[in-house]
Amino acid sequence: LLVRQRVGLLEPCEGLGEDPSLTAFPETSLPWQARFSFRQEGPMAEIKTIDELDARGKRVLVRVDFNAPVDADGNVTDDTRIRAALPTINKLIGDGARVILTSHRGRPAGEGFEESFSLGPIARRLQELLGRDIVLSRELIGPAAQEAVDALEDGDVLLLENIRFDKREKKNDPEFARALADLADAYVNDAFGTAHRAHASTAGVAAYLPSYAGYLMEREVATLTGMLDEPRRPLVAILGGSKVSDKIKVIDALLEKADTLIIGGGMAYTFIKAQGYEVGKSLCDDSKLDYCKEMMAKAESLGKKLLLPVDTAVSVSFPEPIDAEISVEYVESKNIPADKMGLDIGPKTQEIFAEAAKSAKTVVWNGPMGVFENPVLAKGTIAVAKALAETDATTIIGGGDSAAAVMQLGFADKMSHISTGGGASLEYLEGKTLPGVAVIADK
Ligand code: 3PG
Repeated sequence: LLVRQRVGLLEPCEGLGEDPSLTAFPETSLPWQARFSFRQEGPMAEIKTIDELDARGKRVLVRVDFNAPVDADGNVTDDTRIRAALPTINKLIGDGARVILTSHRGRPAGEGFEESFSLGPIARRLQELLGRDIVLSRELIGPAAQEAVDALEDGDVLLLENIRFDKREKKNDPEFARALADLADAYVNDAFGTAHRAHASTAGVAAYLPSYAGYLMEREVATLTGMLDEPRRPLVAILGGSKVSDKIKVIDALLEKADTLIIGGGMAYTFIKAQGYEVGKSLCDDSKLDYCKEMMAKAESLGKKLLLPVDTAVSVSFPEPIDAEISVEYVESKNIPADKMGLDIGPKTQEIFAEAAKSAKTVVWNGPMGVFENPVLAKGTIAVAKALAETDATTIIGGGDSAAAVMQLGFADKMSHISTGGGASLEYLEGKTLPGVAVIADK
């Protein structure tokens, strides 16, 4: 297999041939349907999917999120996002479309090509997964890109280089979006992970082309919408991560939707302090104490359960490096010593959180319970992941760290849905309309 570039030639890479596991996620028995409505301001809108696109012979521009980690040797170390886009890509290939893929990777300067942000490693992995040659075009728009598109035959795949090499992408520049649209006859957005960005390739381009959702986008939005609008109850939401400030809106929104809200991770210590206890050297955002009090009062007045850690793993300092050996003791959350910091939930809390998760019919989880990168401090996160793996409930994992934790811990195939979008799923749970979703509604 060979990735041809407009400029230069990548190393040939050994192909894996046809990979039977082209579906990124396990099939689930979610109660909601493939064709769905979703919330946005104003009346409910319907989303059009690629099943409604007659793609044969058409040039189809597909926005994917191939923002995947790559190691120093150019190997993709987690190809989940690439696999997640395969159903859409394979459907279009099968339909005889001329597929033009576009994605960003990382946050380049926007001043042109940068090797360290190239999609070359992604192209190689995609080629292996598809079991066919693809072309990587250094040019994003204009005559050279057009030439690469013109050379495509039905069923061929072209990948444009990192779309953020042009700074007009992030500015959602209308001329840039128009030039991108000029390459194609139809637009498909399958980049749920970037749907919270109003960029040229995620939103702007849809103004100029008939637009559709890919299967990944469809599934992500259907799952999250179904969970928020008609969950099987009880609905338990588990939030973790380090900062309260990152989760302010989502705590508020989930208190309304969920029957039980569980808070762990670094952000729990601000809540514990708001309850009137000292938290020693633990992460704590004093400017959010009033907010935490307000949320606790809100839970009370809505009759919702808000569960906080009753015990916690403490140590003298944060592990450095993160997976360094560390000795911890377990204390009650209301007795954290002044010279110690909380770094994970304790065993009693693990049991309480696991019990709550197991009694749910639907669980949504965003954010780890502790410093899960360290084996000693991963116990709380493992306990929650295990409880989710063992329940019959519908389990939905927000992207980012909780998705990484579930995958690293080997529980991925036990979850109903693992979102490919960390920031995007969080904004969706907050109740925001995502620009990349809004543009494929009613088009
Ligand atoms: C992500 O990894 O969350 C998405 O790919 C979006 O990337 P961004 O935060 O750089 O826009």
